[in-house]
Amino acid sequence: MAIIIDGKKVRDENLAVMKQEVAELNAQGIYPCLCVIIVGSDPASRVYVNNKKKACENIGIISREYAMPEETTTAQLLDLIDTLNADESVSGILCQMPVPKHIDSKAVLERISPAKDVDCFHPFNVGKLVHGENIMRPCTPAGMETLLDYMGVEIEGKTCVIIGRSEIVGKPMSLLMTNRNATVTLCHSKTKNLKEVTSKADILVASVGKPAFVTGDMVKEGAIVLDVGINRDENGKICGDCVFDECAAKASMITPVPGGVGPMTITMLMRNTITAEKARKNIPLNEK
Ligand code: GUN
Repeated sequence: MAIIIDGKKVRDENLAVMKQEVAELNAQGIYPCLCVIIVGSDPASRVYVNNKKKACENIGIISREYAMPEETTTAQLLDLIDTLNADESVSGILCQMPVPKHIDSKAVLERISPAKDVDCFHPFNVGKLVHGENIMRPCTPAGMETLLDYMGVEIEGKTCVIIGRSEIVGKPMSLLMTNRNATVTLCHSKTKNLKEVTSKADILVASVGKPAFVTGDMVKEGAIVLDVGINRDENGKICGDCVFDECAAKASMITPVPGGVGPMTITMLMRNTITAEKARKNIPLNEK
C-alpha cells in the first residue's frame, strides 16, 4: 500500500515559512501585494479567488481584489492591467480564468508585466522556463515538484509520464521535470497505447480532468502517482483522475483528492508573489 502524500501538511509547513519571510520583509518596509482580477460571476472562480485572498491574509501578503462585471470589455481589462503594472506597490497580478467569452484572454495574459506574472502564463516567462532561467514557476506544476522534493524523491534520471498537455499543468510540468533531468513523456488524447506508456512511469502525473481515467493496470509497481484531477463522481463527490484504491495498491506514493496536489497550487502562488517582490527589490532569492 502506498504512502499517501499529505498536501495539506506540506502546504501548512510552506505557508509557515513564508509567513516568517513576509514578516522579515515587512520589517524592512517591503510589503508583498497580490492583485487578483475576477471578471463576471462564475461560482467556481469566486471560490478560488476567495481562497487566494484567505491564503494572502494568513501569511501577511496584502491582497487586493478587482471584481469586474460580466460586460467588461477587453480594453477596460487591459487598462486596469496597465495601471497595476505601473503601480509600484503591486508585486503580483493574476487574472482569474476563465474570463467571459467576449474577452481576448490571450491579450490579457500577455499584457501582465512578466515581472508581476505570478501565474507564469506570459510567453516571456514560458520561454524562460524552456531555458531553465525562470525565477517563478507555474503554480500547480511547482506544487507537484515541491511535493516530490518534500517526500525526498530523486527526480533526476526518473521516467516521468504526464497524461494531459494543458498550458497550465501538463506542458509546464513536462518542462519542470525536464529541467530536473527526468526523462519525460507527455501523453494526450491522441497517444497510442497509453497503458503501455504509463506502465513505464516512475513518476506518473494524471492531469486529464476525467474521473476514473487512470486505473491500477496503468501504474507500474512502486511508481509515484500525482493526481491533479478535481472532478465530481456520479454521487457528486470530489474525486481525482485516478481510481484511488487500485492505483494506491500499485504505487509507492500517491496524492489523494482532495488534499494532495490541490492545496499546493495556492501555496506556490504565495511563493511566486514573494519571489516577484524580492526580485523587484533585488533581494537574493532563497528558492528557485
Ligand atoms: N483558473 C483555474 N486555475 C487558474 C490559475 O492557476 N490561474 C488563473 N489565473 N486562473 C485559473
